[in-house]
Amino acid sequence: MAIGIYDSGVGGLSIWRELQVRLKTRLIYFGDTAHVPYGEKGADELEGYFWNIMNFFRSRGCVGAVVACNTTSTLVLPRVKDKVEYPVLGIVEGAVEATLAAGNGSVGILATKATVESGVYQRALSEARPDWQVYAQSAPRLVPLVEGGQVEGKKAEEAVREYLEPLLAKGIDTLLLGCTHYPFLREQLERAAGSGVRIVDPAPYIAQRAEAIWPQFSQGGEYLGSEFWVSAKPEAFRQTAQKLLGTEIKHVHFHEDVEEGK
Ligand code: DGL
Repeated sequence: MAIGIYDSGVGGLSIWRELQVRLKTRLIYFGDTAHVPYGEKGADELEGYFWNIMNFFRSRGCVGAVVACNTTSTLVLPRVKDKVEYPVLGIVEGAVEATLAAGNGSVGILATKATVESGVYQRALSEARPDWQVYAQSAPRLVPLVEGGQVEGKKAEEAVREYLEPLLAKGIDTLLLGCTHYPFLREQLERAAGSGVRIVDPAPYIAQRAEAIWPQFSQGGEYLGSEFWVSAKPEAFRQTAQKLLGTEIKHVHFHEDVEEGK
């Protein structure tokens, strides 16, 4: 038995690192690196990847899955949720909960183009707190930077500043990291946002929800390790993941069936 976790690439590792200390079972991480970035793709295409990856997880003995991607959680999960035979946990509800707990009247959302355009976070936060101001900004250059392991240095610093500027100009007090890649840029984001802005990484809230959905893996048992799989460039993924997580990843498997047309 295992739980599957997936994202377009390394971003979902920001959720995996919380889950691996909380879920006492085997974890199977899948980075769909043949199709990264997801953030500018449409719902039909992303749904195709979703089903391929669910099939893969089933073939590896998974009894549940975490969609560690805001874009897929936003565009695909509402269409497929009742059609999967095991529980599937997305990011949106946990991220909204985390933001409501941290917010103080003026919230900025940093996310992919598709997530921002869906309006899912803007709607959920405005419904829960009509008295709050909510602003959203897409940040298309950040995912390629994280995928390339370029989380320090001038390029990352400039991109983060550029995307935060319009939100800071609105006087936000809280910033939701609405893409699972962005927690790996946390230092840059903190520096650019300054101490007056609380940064919300929803990962702990997602892990709490995972514990509630799979109590059999949170109350007993033992962590049985993780497998890492990708649909392209396993060695590049291994190196970037090691850099971002600061831990050794011995092997990354290549699973070609998830590639287009197979
Ligand atoms: N990390 C994903 C998200 O949370 C996907 C980003 C991308 O591939 O564009 O939206």
